[in-house]
Amino acid sequence: MSGIVIAGVSRIFGTVRAVDNITLTVAQGEFFTLLGPSGCGKTTLLRMIAGFSDLDGGEISIGGQRIDKLAAHRRDIGMVFQNYAVFPNLSVAGNVAYGLKARRVPPPEIAARVEEALSLVQLSGFGDRQPHQLSGGQLQRVAIARALVIRPQVLLFDEPLSNLDARLRVSMRGEIRALQKSLGITAIYVTHDQEEAMSVSDRIAMMNAGRLEQVGAPVEIYRKPATRFAAEFMGTTNLVEARMLGLAAPVSVSLRPEALRFAEEAPADWPRLSCVVESLEMLGPITRLDARLANGTTVRMATLDTPSLSVQAGQAVTLAYDPARLTVVA
Ligand SMILES: Nc1ncnc2c1ncn2[C@@H]1O[C@H](COP(=O)(O)OP(=O)(O)O)[C@@H](O)[C@H]1O
Ligand SMILES: [Mg+2]
Repeated sequence: MSGIVIAGVSRIFGTVRAVDNITLTVAQGEFFTLLGPSGCGKTTLLRMIAGFSDLDGGEISIGGQRIDKLAAHRRDIGMVFQNYAVFPNLSVAGNVAYGLKARRVPPPEIAARVEEALSLVQLSGFGDRQPHQLSGGQLQRVAIARALVIRPQVLLFDEPLSNLDARLRVSMRGEIRALQKSLGITAIYVTHDQEEAMSVSDRIAMMNAGRLEQVGAPVEIYRKPATRFAAEFMGTTNLVEARMLGLAAPVSVSLRPEALRFAEEAPADWPRLSCVVESLEMLGPITRLDARLANGTTVRMATLDTPSLSVQAGQAVTLAYDPARLTVVA
């Protein structure tokens, strides 16, 4: 059992409540992501789970055992950092063996486990290489092998892909997800990139200023954001004030750009909006379009590439939106 329970956990630096009374449960084998902007407390929470930072309040348990008072090396947790943290003066095998030597595992077993860990990250035969001979993606694989070799119950990742180029980030995130699922290990993954979070996670905890904004499956947060912050951080959206029948105060409503279409292509019962195209961005499969309503509000639309339509900036167009995709946010 390696489910993680985080109960009322806080960390305060001077006047900054870096992590402010967070309560979360991560299921065994789950790929769980902490998502939020820089400075929202993701790394601090991860470091408390790993044992690199004390708690100012709350408790953390893994598999029913309280761990927040244990030394880091006794927690059965592997951690992968953003900057790889690979030792430059050790070979690849030396790096991967490091945690086993520290745990006094006998040398013959070390050799076998290093080879096994390297093969898991597709670096079989790379043991004798020096770190400076490796690419960024290979270095990050070494860091993952080093975390896996201790056979931890839990694997923590702190923005592991942010030093890699865009294409490699996309392929590595798929590899990490596949490896995590094949090993059945419980993972907590930190990123500020909403697309990365959506692509790898079973569930996401969205954080804002040390607190939880919303916890849910990627599609839940994307389609039913609870707050304005969640709606805007999880992709692009249109936030508008709307009056609802029976309610005195206006409410905020989120409408995703892909819930809008050109009127010609929309069902007849979708509400229409007359507007003027402000700008267009052709991104290959989709085109993004900003359009201004008569009241001055800009609405954003995203539409699949439609060669039959030619629309230009300055042109008057009628858009329509799917009313079922309006979501009231707090
Ligand atoms: N050791 C520290 N001393 C003082 N302030 C810190 C320390 N570590 C983090 N902070 C502050 O705590 C907040 C959360 O930081 P962090 O957990 O690194 O956020 P994130 O990883 O989401 O970018 C920030 O305001 C940061 O400046
Ligand atoms: Mg961080």
